[in-house]
Amino acid sequence: MRRHDYKLDHSKLPLYAALQDHIDSRVIPFDVPGHKRGRGNDYLRDFLGKSVMAADVNSMKPLDFICNPISVIKEAEDLMADAYGADEAFFIVNGTSQAVQSMVMSAVSEGDTIIMPRNVHKSAINALILSGAIPHYIYPHIEEDYGMVTGLSLKDVERAVKEAPHAKAIFIINPTYYGVVSELEAIIELTHKHDMHVIVDEAHGAHFPFHDDFPCSAIALGADMVASSLHKTGGSLTQSSVLLLNNGRILRNHVKTIINLTQTTSASYILMTSLDLTRKYLVDEGKDKFDKVIALAESAREKINRIDGLTAFDQDSFSKKGCYGFDKTKLGINVTGIGLTGLNVYEILRDDYNIQIEMGDAHNILAILSIGDSDKEVNQLVSALYAISNNYRKDKLELDFKHFSATGVKLSPRQAFYSEKERLDLSCSVGRISGEFVMIYPPGIPILAPGEHITKEIVDYIQLLKKENGTLSGLEDTNGDYIYCIKED
Ligand SMILES: Cc1ncc(COP(=O)(O)O)c(C=O)c1O
Repeated sequence: MRRHDYKLDHSKLPLYAALQDHIDSRVIPFDVPGHKRGRGNDYLRDFLGKSVMAADVNSMKPLDFICNPISVIKEAEDLMADAYGADEAFFIVNGTSQAVQSMVMSAVSEGDTIIMPRNVHKSAINALILSGAIPHYIYPHIEEDYGMVTGLSLKDVERAVKEAPHAKAIFIINPTYYGVVSELEAIIELTHKHDMHVIVDEAHGAHFPFHDDFPCSAIALGADMVASSLHKTGGSLTQSSVLLLNNGRILRNHVKTIINLTQTTSASYILMTSLDLTRKYLVDEGKDKFDKVIALAESAREKINRIDGLTAFDQDSFSKKGCYGFDKTKLGINVTGIGLTGLNVYEILRDDYNIQIEMGDAHNILAILSIGDSDKEVNQLVSALYAISNNYRKDKLELDFKHFSATGVKLSPRQAFYSEKERLDLSCSVGRISGEFVMIYPPGIPILAPGEHITKEIVDYIQLLKKENGTLSGLEDTNGDYIYCIKED
């Protein structure tokens, strides 16, 4: 199943209409926020403008309340659920990180096992620290030519289910940052047969339900819960996101209670209204807009593939082992053929060409195309890549490293997080258990998570990222010279 029929009237904008009424009514505000429609903060009003300041209000009866929505927020959430073909939707204003954490904490609790690919975003592992659930990691296929972790096959999951038949849930990424899709439909069918909840991080697939040429959305394929980053590829404001619920396996009120553990009581109406307007925009305009985005991406891929040493990949570039679909809007490019790392090219594009791409890693760069792009900018990117390949070209780079700790998890993330730790020089930490995360953001996928064995390959990889000016995060020491390890007796 692809696009579903809508059941509700998508011409409505319940939250936007209520907020607009409130602004027009010029109610005398003796509540927060204290800037009182911007009158109390000239600097901010001059920067954002009067209309933004007037829309920055707090909850009140006509505007509903995020923690227990019963009127206009609930109506807007119902429309969002309908747009995605889900039973329920929750508006989230603390990024998809909060949606991911709420999904995991709704599906598993302390001591429960959850199957997940190791290339999850840090928010999923943070959710394990918060919930006390134990990961049973699948180490997905690595496409050596691209130095890239891809998706999950049914076989991967069959093996994991055999090894961890007691698992309560499985966590899937749809798609990966680079647009790679797992064998999702078959995985959902299998894991449901084993009575596991299926929860999906669709941070990079918020646009999937709005065009038939995109891979199927996880909700359409039967997932129980999905976190969808409308702010990433849907066009809403940064931090606004949704958590979708389906199938009735996990109860709405339970999810609401879990969301409320970490959710603000002062949700931004600007962010929530951006979700309401974006839902209508995607329903009305999504198909046409994404037609253009797909055409732009396909033409850019073709042009880039004519540049010697660069490979703009798509589904055919990958072996079948971990790629069962591909999001064409992700313009991922392997750059090792021009003798540079993705991190180098990321920096050169920014410093010399004023072009900001989404990320660079050791082998590749990623440009995300979306509804805001046009020919002009895409051509600038292609020209800049052409110039870089001429001006900076060196011998092809041969890189060999491990993305994750091969010997895996020694302590659960929560145990490790709360254990006593000692600070060691990174180069002396081989053989020890990490007490910290190590990652570069983006993509925010931990190279090391708390509780994992530190190998020489991992230390070498971190050193390489440091050398290439990758911005390390997770470590208390922002230079990445030291790492906190679990204290040994
Ligand atoms: C796969 C994945 N999941 C979740 C997130 C978290 O999203 P947010 O930044 O909106 O909190 C990200 C962010 O990059 C991501 O890449």
